[in-house]
Amino acid sequence: MQERLELIATEAKNELIQDAATLEAYRIKYLGTKGIMKEVFEDFKQIPNEEKKSMGQLINSLKNTLETIYLEKKEELENTSTEQSDTIDYTKPGARVPRGGRHPIHIIKNEMIDIFARIGFTVAEGPEIEDDWHNFTALNTPEDHPARDMQDTFYIKENVMLRTHTSPVQIRVMETQTPPIRIITPGRVYRNETISARAHCTFHQVEGLYINENVSFADLKQTLLYFAKEMFGQNVDIRLRPSYFPFTEPSAELDISCFICDKKGCAVCKGSGWVEIGGCGMVDPAVLENCKIDTEKYTGFAFGMGIERITMLKYGINDLRIFYDNDIRFLKQFS
Ligand code: DAH
Repeated sequence: MQERLELIATEAKNELIQDAATLEAYRIKYLGTKGIMKEVFEDFKQIPNEEKKSMGQLINSLKNTLETIYLEKKEELENTSTEQSDTIDYTKPGARVPRGGRHPIHIIKNEMIDIFARIGFTVAEGPEIEDDWHNFTALNTPEDHPARDMQDTFYIKENVMLRTHTSPVQIRVMETQTPPIRIITPGRVYRNETISARAHCTFHQVEGLYINENVSFADLKQTLLYFAKEMFGQNVDIRLRPSYFPFTEPSAELDISCFICDKKGCAVCKGSGWVEIGGCGMVDPAVLENCKIDTEKYTGFAFGMGIERITMLKYGINDLRIFYDNDIRFLKQFS
């Protein structure tokens, strides 16, 4: 037996261990659960009792030798692998990680949020699936209004629809907060439109709402003028054209002077010198009453603008569809 132990030790010392795989093979062969050491311990049980003490010591010493070889080789291999990493060429130019960017709609949305935040507006959000009350009825939209038509609105079931504008968020905020209220509500809206360069079935709006004591049309006008100048440049002017919305009275269409041709007339403003960017007005008292706001005490203004429209003007984009094509050549220009 003693001879056999010596043989095992010599064999183990001569094993060629040069990488993780041969190291593992060594471990399995000598120290594994079905390995040589295991066999030796099995045989140990058979030897006569008088020899047990001295043999036991020899066996233990063999086990130590085998384990030491394993640990030393292991350490050696680990060290050489760090040595290898020292040979990396640190002057080699790195591989470029492709970098994403924000979508232009989001860039402009964030810019609009920033501009209004500077005059005290905070962001409010509402659901994209709306009920009839918030999307139409509370906004004073009559039963027979064309916007309620199936042809214009995506209905999910009776009285439940994809919101057609961000105005329902006004209602949700007025129902739950007491004035003064000063919010903008950026978000996605849906309309049953045929997709073209100028229309899409999904797009984005930013709604604004200010309710307080003594809010006047002059406040609305000044707020919009401030926004237009911050967004498009200090030379830009605004124009309010009388219009009609069920939820505002009086109502107006908001135009900005064409900053591309400086009011001289070009393709973008179709020769008029002005481009429309949204609607606005004084919140109709009927709407305030629907939200249980005291119309004797409070007045307010509201406005709604299309984010796509503003983004197209800012970046000179003439086809709405490009925002949703996910063409990397287009999107890359904004990163
Ligand atoms: N909700 C209108 C639309 O989608 C836009 C709008 C007009 C919003 C006037 C307003 C407003 O808050 O006062 O066409």
